[in-house]
Amino acid sequence: MSKNLLEVRGLETVFGGEHGDVAAVRDVSLTVSRGEIVGLVGESGSGKSVTGLSIMGLIGHPGRVTKGEIMLHGEDLRRLPTTALRGLRGNRIAMIFQDPMMTLNPVLRIDTQMIEAITAHDAKVDRTTARARCRDALGIVGIPSPEERLKAYPHQFSGGMRQRVTIAIAMLNSPDLIIADEPTTALDVTIQSQILAEMQKLCRERGTALIWITHDLTVIAALTQRVYVMYAGSVVEEGLLDDVLDRPLHPYTYGLIRSIPSDNAPGKRLFQIPGMAPPIDRMPKGCRFHPRCPRVQEDCLREPSLDASGPNRAVRCHHPIAEDKALFEGERA
Ligand SMILES: Nc1ncnc2c1ncn2[C@@H]1O[C@H](COP(=O)(O)OP(=O)(O)OP(=O)(O)O)[C@@H](O)[C@H]1O
Ligand code: SF4
Ligand SMILES: [Mg+2]
Repeated sequence: MSKNLLEVRGLETVFGGEHGDVAAVRDVSLTVSRGEIVGLVGESGSGKSVTGLSIMGLIGHPGRVTKGEIMLHGEDLRRLPTTALRGLRGNRIAMIFQDPMMTLNPVLRIDTQMIEAITAHDAKVDRTTARARCRDALGIVGIPSPEERLKAYPHQFSGGMRQRVTIAIAMLNSPDLIIADEPTTALDVTIQSQILAEMQKLCRERGTALIWITHDLTVIAALTQRVYVMYAGSVVEEGLLDDVLDRPLHPYTYGLIRSIPSDNAPGKRLFQIPGMAPPIDRMPKGCRFHPRCPRVQEDCLREPSLDASGPNRAVRCHHPIAEDKALFEGERA
């Protein structure tokens, strides 16, 4: 059996529109091993959430997964009947959303929701045991007076505390994999770093694997071991965290790193990659980054494939960066 917990191969997810289907995610392959923390990073619209939702089997109309395999424990989730997939969700795989109210029901007390999250997957657990597990889970994610807070409604929590409740719910059944889609983006940085540290600890202690989705490379740097960089619906670079940050191979990754605020001296204008990411129905020909790329050459109109460039390392570019010198006009100005 493969050592990978999750193996996604050649994923394509399309959305139907006036002019037919357009791909929001194309040829996405990624692997996650047991207990591993992996980052998925890219600009807005690059297909991060669609990738996460596709893995969870949560793409609804007008979207659908049209290609690829999503293997969990060697079993293709795309071939599972809906009931079996529903049985896995919240149990073996869980997702945490940017907006906690995607998970929480505003009109139900937290204890009702948490106990239901346990008994939905294990009818044999009695209420007292389930309640004790819920109380412990709230305590573990740093919610004070968990016994009392169980009786509260979602609106009685602050944003940060509400997000902790959804993390506790995701962790309740000790899943093998959690997909966290920007869950700390709306929180202030202190709370964000507390939650990141707690997630890291929880995953380590329980052997839970984590895919952390974000547009923020500093979060990736603080949390993950390996990273996938997405651009315009595809993975353009992957590698161990330090390799990618120290020696980016793709000009887009390089630009993202140069845009990190701490990478710029104080008082200097923040660097931004020039131009905009293309909308999915107007993807440029060939390399989709070519209109913004400082290294573009004629052959970039031919679509590059994601090629391995060493162990744990791959890049989708005809002219990967060999040497780190300023690429974009205006950077380090
Ligand atoms: N329900 C939908 N219907 C039509 N198109 C969609 C839908 N959801 C996503 N898309 C398209 O898929 C593309 C990828 O969206 P996705 O939400 O995965 O981006 P993202 O990387 O998560 O961005 P963000 O950082 O803003 O969350 C978007 O550009 C959007 O055009
Ligand atoms: S393939 Fe060409 S245009 Fe695309 S990132 Fe590489 S150098 Fe730039
Ligand atoms: Mg998103």
